Amino acid sequence: MNTLPVLPSRTARPGYFITFEGGEGVGKSTQIQLLKEKLIELGKHVVTTREPGGTPAAEAIRAVLLGNQYQDLSDRAEAMLFAAARADVVANVVDPALAAGSVVLADRYFDSSVAYQGYARNLGAAEVKALSLWATRGLIPDLTVFLDLDPTVGMARVDQPDRLESLAMEFHIKVRNAFLDIANNEPERFVVVDASQSPAAISEQIYAAIKSRLSL
Ligand SMILES: Nc1ncnc2c1ncn2[C@@H]1O[C@H](COP(=O)(O)OP(=O)(O)OP(=O)(O)O)[C@@H](O)[C@H]1O
Ligand SMILES: [Mg+2]
Repeated sequence: MNTLPVLPSRTARPGYFITFEGGEGVGKSTQIQLLKEKLIELGKHVVTTREPGGTPAAEAIRAVLLGNQYQDLSDRAEAMLFAAARADVVANVVDPALAAGSVVLADRYFDSSVAYQGYARNLGAAEVKALSLWATRGLIPDLTVFLDLDPTVGMARVDQPDRLESLAMEFHIKVRNAFLDIANNEPERFVVVDASQSPAAISEQIYAAIKSRLSL
């Protein structure tokens, strides 16, 4: 008989898991820092993570994924390394923080894998998402902020391009369209923000969305 994998229930957790998605240079790190400051003012305990990375093993994997010396890294190896790094940071950092009631702000999460490897690398959105759900034991964000920006504007903000940032503009356009599609399919989880605005205006919109959607 065919048995479906059973994922543990992830609904009951005291903390909040908010992820930030978007292409290169759209302002993810800037907005995470601004939101972190606001939440700390409100007395929240905030934990931030960046992908790939956040644990010693995940940082080692990051060096392989983003290192310009690994130009021949195969697409499937790339997808599995992202999932492996994510598995490690969820198990060792995100899960314990959520269990302790913290707000976790993640600079990229599985939607990035679905957009970059699933859509833009053509590995299949459903397969890549399934890999990530297995890796994270089904951890789905409470809210995902997608910072939407024309990739030519975003790339112009990037100083020293890493292996993925160095890919052709055509790839970055595919990534943007992928994120828009993913966000469209899950409107209850996503907040889409026009990232061509000023950092302060973007931050206000993100904060308003969080206040209205989560009981923080
Ligand atoms: N709304 C904005 N308008 C103009 N410039 C911005 C805005 N937000 C961030 N920047 C600037 O653009 C650059 C990239 O921003 P940031 O590092 O936050 O983006 P990111 O999405 O984290 O990029 P990366 O994908 O490289 O990690 C920085 O120099 C930052 O100061
Ligand atoms: Mg960043």
